[in-house]
Amino acid sequence: MQDLTIAVVGATGAVGAEFLRIVETRYPTLPKLKLMASSRSAGKIITVGGKDLVVEEAAVDSFDDVDIAFISASSAVSHKLAPAAVEAGAVVIDDGSAFRMEDKVPLVVPEVNGSDVEWHEGIISIPNCSTTPLVMAAHPLHQVNPIKRIVADTYQSVSGAGGGAMDTLREQTERLMDSDYLTIKSEEGQIAYNVVPQIDRFMETGYTFEEQKMRQESQKILHAPEIQISATCVRVPVYISHSASVHIEFTRPMAVEEATKLLNAMPGITVLGDQDTGEYPMPWDVAGEDDVFIGRIRQDMSHPNGLVMWIVSDNLRKGAALNSLQIAEELVYRGRLKPKSASELTG
Ligand SMILES: NC(=O)c1ccc[n+]([C@@H]2O[C@H](COP(=O)([O-])OP(=O)(O)OC[C@H]3O[C@@H](n4cnc5c(N)ncnc54)[C@H](OP(=O)(O)O)[C@@H]3O)[C@@H](O)[C@H]2O)c1
Repeated sequence: MQDLTIAVVGATGAVGAEFLRIVETRYPTLPKLKLMASSRSAGKIITVGGKDLVVEEAAVDSFDDVDIAFISASSAVSHKLAPAAVEAGAVVIDDGSAFRMEDKVPLVVPEVNGSDVEWHEGIISIPNCSTTPLVMAAHPLHQVNPIKRIVADTYQSVSGAGGGAMDTLREQTERLMDSDYLTIKSEEGQIAYNVVPQIDRFMETGYTFEEQKMRQESQKILHAPEIQISATCVRVPVYISHSASVHIEFTRPMAVEEATKLLNAMPGITVLGDQDTGEYPMPWDVAGEDDVFIGRIRQDMSHPNGLVMWIVSDNLRKGAALNSLQIAEELVYRGRLKPKSASELTG
């Protein structure tokens, strides 16, 4: 990784900042980093690994010397910059929903479908931050007992909506702390002391786009369009980490012990506690952790072939920045990424 030049578009955002924190701690020798954001941030200094780096305004001609362009800004920015980065010879790892469902774009969680990076044509997408933990849990179970149906209800932190939403939660929490909640109604966009059962826009189906993403993206990553998935995505007043209550229906019954063993053997998953210990993962504790944490695994009383579990993961790390870096590592591991600087040296 240290031979690569990585452009980080969105370096000043919540995901971009986490990306840089992970780079600092994951690689003994840092790759060359080009930090980019909007014109508002041009000239800003960000210190990474003790080095002061200047943020540039991202433009279509910014990628000539870049091996990997990590784009984490907005769909509009991805649509504008990704083709230019690919044209310049970079591999784009895109964090948004711009290309995820395109046939020519692999959608990758390396522990689940790492080999899909092999067929990329310049752009690789990472899934939505609620999809990733779901497929991490579903994959090892689906291998031994095909999943027929998943019902997932999420409890998603505000950082999933960007750094600005974290500021909003803090501001509202302080301002509304002493409000008379018995007499006043919630204000528009109120997340403090509230729970909002809508993330992203509504679709014709009555589901939101976030819920549709969980269904379609999971089917694509698991290579299993036959799995029926229904999600309800809810924003909760938590800063970091998304949680989900997940009901899985298998082809045959699956014992809690077998599921626990399979999940424990899956790289990137930590099963925490059981009925005896009374432990379970919570978002506050999981923030800053790389793994997807699973607890409260139990038989579904409403279906003989069903299991229920509670899944928590840091949406900024495994849900976004870490997954992107793991995709880059997968490309390097498979010999699918050669630094441009190396080809210059060898002519
Ligand atoms: N947050 C999550 O958990 C999560 C998980 C998975 C995927 N994602 C996706 O990641 C992306 C970024 O999310 P975030 O949470 O980091 O948002 P954020 O905190 O709001 O940050 C947005 C970033 O995009 C930059 N940006 C905005 N307009 C730009 C432009 N015209 N050119 C270049 N850069 C521009 C911003 O730069 P300025 O500071 O200069 O405005 C900032 O660095 C979104 O597509 C989101 O869907 C987020």
